[in-house]
Amino acid sequence: MRRITLTALVAVTLGNPVSVLAEPQAEVLHWWTSGGEAKSVAVLQQEFAANGGTWTDMPVAGGGGDAAMTALRARVLSGNAPTAVQLKGPAIQEWYEEGALADISAVAEAEGWVDVLPASIAGHMRCEGTWCAAPVNVHRVDWIWANAGVLEANGVSMPSTWEEFNAAAEKLQAAGIIPLAHGGQAWQDATVFEAVALGILGADGFRKAFVELDENALTSDAMVAVFDQMRILRGHVDRNFSGRDWNLATAMVMNGEAAFQIMGDWAKGEFLAAGKVPGEDFLCASTPGDGFLYNVDSFAMFNVDGDDKRAGQELLAKLIVGKNFQKVFNLNKGSIPARTDVSLDEFDSCAHLSAEDMAASSEGGSLLPSYAHGMALRGAQAGAITDVVTAHFNSDMSSADAVEMLANAVANSM
Ligand code: BGC
Repeated sequence: MRRITLTALVAVTLGNPVSVLAEPQAEVLHWWTSGGEAKSVAVLQQEFAANGGTWTDMPVAGGGGDAAMTALRARVLSGNAPTAVQLKGPAIQEWYEEGALADISAVAEAEGWVDVLPASIAGHMRCEGTWCAAPVNVHRVDWIWANAGVLEANGVSMPSTWEEFNAAAEKLQAAGIIPLAHGGQAWQDATVFEAVALGILGADGFRKAFVELDENALTSDAMVAVFDQMRILRGHVDRNFSGRDWNLATAMVMNGEAAFQIMGDWAKGEFLAAGKVPGEDFLCASTPGDGFLYNVDSFAMFNVDGDDKRAGQELLAKLIVGKNFQKVFNLNKGSIPARTDVSLDEFDSCAHLSAEDMAASSEGGSLLPSYAHGMALRGAQAGAITDVVTAHFNSDMSSADAVEMLANAVANSM
């Protein structure tokens, strides 16, 4: 554990009926441990320290946060919750229902969050009318990343349909290049699966299947086609894909060993941290199909004792939604700000595309929560789907069997 120590007395009044003098303290549980992620979280650590806070770092490695969530449960069960936790989507409300979360409404109201956050994002941060989490960003999940030089050398362009993707992958494979850099971890399989599903099912089909858990949508012919495409993709990953971390897959695209990666824009954070330039060294495009799968990182504050920790929670919540932090953090992280009033002038072309597509899909009704990143469903339901996706990807299961298993798994998880 790292400690950033600073001693400064800060007057804390927000959210506390009695004005107290306390030194803000926070033990922060998160899973930002890759190169780009560590650079990003350092921005928050520095701002916290610069404002008189003492940060105790509790990083739990593991992309997608599964290991972090296991660590969180153990800490809460032992009666020793961390002060602040990277927590997303319906898991926020699940912890609220367990009575574990602190109310940060006083900060939210003092800072006018309601005026600067889109309603779709704010909704995830509310628990029965109170504010129970602070949003950091908007990550888009449905992206393809590519090595620009590899595509050019092989006469391949960024695919805009799955057929084009498959044709490009075959050409690259014949040229001895790994078409798809992938890490065989359940959450990465789920990430690729939901991007394919959005493309093949369309926005309405995706919503019915993975937000509403509609049985007809889960067992449709289109869902069979989604698993067919997953089987094709399985044929385009290398032999050593099992267990590989997502950032190592990104590195394979960076060094030209592989051509493409299907991954959320935290992958861009890796390219940028390695000094790579979008449009020159690497390319970004949304995966084939319409719509936008959003994944909003946020922090929830857990019930803890001590004025110093409560002061830490208030300071953190305030900084996280602060304008400067939202800009600098997201320039590093690969995402775009959650706030609507942060200028994107310093952001790159991929971020601009993300912001434009987000606005257009919000208008057109195709802005959708990511199931694979815990934005759409409760944990048990999302886990049931991912188990099937992974079982199919790692076996020779037919698409028809996968669809049947999917419908059963979802029914049993409710
Ligand atoms: C988080 C990102 C993180 C990624 C890989 C996602 O679920 O939202 O912030 O970079 O997992 O760990």
